[in-house]
Amino acid sequence: MVKPLFWILACIVMLNGCASRSVSLYEELGGQAKINEIVENFVYEIEYNDTILPYFADTDIDRFIEKFAEQLCVFSGGPCSYSGDTMKQVHGGMNITEADFNLTVDLFINAMNKANVPHTLQNKLIARMTHTRKQMLYL
Ligand code: HEM
Repeated sequence: MVKPLFWILACIVMLNGCASRSVSLYEELGGQAKINEIVENFVYEIEYNDTILPYFADTDIDRFIEKFAEQLCVFSGGPCSYSGDTMKQVHGGMNITEADFNLTVDLFINAMNKANVPHTLQNKLIARMTHTRKQMLYL
């Protein structure tokens, strides 16, 4: 009688453990492969935008791709660490206007749409990305 009771309790504990494990945004998005796809699309969007492209005139684009992908991984709760500079260090001196900031976010949304990211997930990611907005504008 004791043994079956033990196993029933053990199963309940295990099932409860599974049910309460929260899925990260990183996993919901589809992991690193999906993040890389979004970043690739984003670079393409920037390349074809006459307003935003000039900001990247002197940029090492391979570094941008690497650091931006790392940051998206961290923002979405993935198993990465960010090794780039702070948002203030990077964007200081660019004098980014509010309009250009919003336009860049629009380009990022285009990139996510082209990667078939559901809108609910897009909103979550954008919210996490734009919390540093004040560290980027008019510097
Ligand atoms: C949504 C907000 C944004 C986030 C999360 C973001 C994030 C980043 C990251 C992670 C990097 C790479 C940092 C490094 O190399 O150490 C970067 C670089 C850069 N970002 Fe942003 N960025 C944002 C908005 C913008 C906007 C609005 C512009 C311009 C309109 C911009 C222009 C640039 C440029 C030109 C670089 C390359 C800098 C260089 O060449 O050293 N970013 N950004």
